[in-house]
Amino acid sequence: MNEMTEIEKEVEEIIGKYFKAGKILSEVRSETVKKVKIGEKLLYVAEFAENLIREKGGEPAFPVNISRNDEAAHYTPSKDDESVFGEDMVKLDIGVHIDGYIADTATTVDLSGHPELVKASESALKNAIEFIHAGVNTADIGGVIEDAITSFGYKPVVNLTGHGLAQYIQHAPPSIPNKRVPHGVLLEEGDIIAIEPFATDGAGKIHDAGNAEIYHIVSERPVRHPSARKLLKEIEKYKTLPFAKRWLGDRVDFAMLQLVKAKIVQSYPILKEIEGGLVSQAEHTVFITEDGCEIITK
Ligand code: CO
Repeated sequence: MNEMTEIEKEVEEIIGKYFKAGKILSEVRSETVKKVKIGEKLLYVAEFAENLIREKGGEPAFPVNISRNDEAAHYTPSKDDESVFGEDMVKLDIGVHIDGYIADTATTVDLSGHPELVKASESALKNAIEFIHAGVNTADIGGVIEDAITSFGYKPVVNLTGHGLAQYIQHAPPSIPNKRVPHGVLLEEGDIIAIEPFATDGAGKIHDAGNAEIYHIVSERPVRHPSARKLLKEIEKYKTLPFAKRWLGDRVDFAMLQLVKAKIVQSYPILKEIEGGLVSQAEHTVFITEDGCEIITK
């Protein structure tokens, strides 16, 4: 066997893992959507999805994000979270990985009675998927997304973007803008990217709103405090992927603070729309081909 076929075999195997992650993820998404009801606990829904991922042979690529109303992203319930769904616009953002190869998807479950806002992000995603193929400029994808959302009378959230995916890296280049931008990069055959338009009736921007429950390791360096060292050992298995505080043992707050202070770990604060607007989201991971794309998370 020559060297080229070995490499080809390896590439095939990797692509197979992305598609396996995607298949698990679509099944988990459709089961989890059914659990989002008024009165249900967010914690129950998050754990339901994460357990189902593991049962099906995958691993959560990040804690299930259940962001409501003006929260655009990065809310995941804490261990003792008592919050329940009301008449909310609910975004479920779920990821699965197989050996670090990640599929990422999101959908909006609207309990708030704003179907047009949901349609705006869904049709932006659909149009973007129909538009892309190898050679397309990411800047133009942003234009397609912006046009779709504004045609519904809403605004795209401009400081959130889609992204590439790489092994154990959830946000790899290229970034996929949600508005028309002056410069982008050309998509290549074999690229795996997540496209995730957000639509809002607010200003179209998010800001950090504190209260982090999601973290990731950003650098490897020694830490002195014994409890911090113990926690670091526990979280090393997530490599560079995000993890939830509720996945860890009890009483980790102090140790986590030490790791954050030492710049070993960083938190993902909740992202909220700056005017308090409602936010909808739709996301798929796709595999770029010469003349189009395949949806990994269909
Ligand atoms: Co994503």
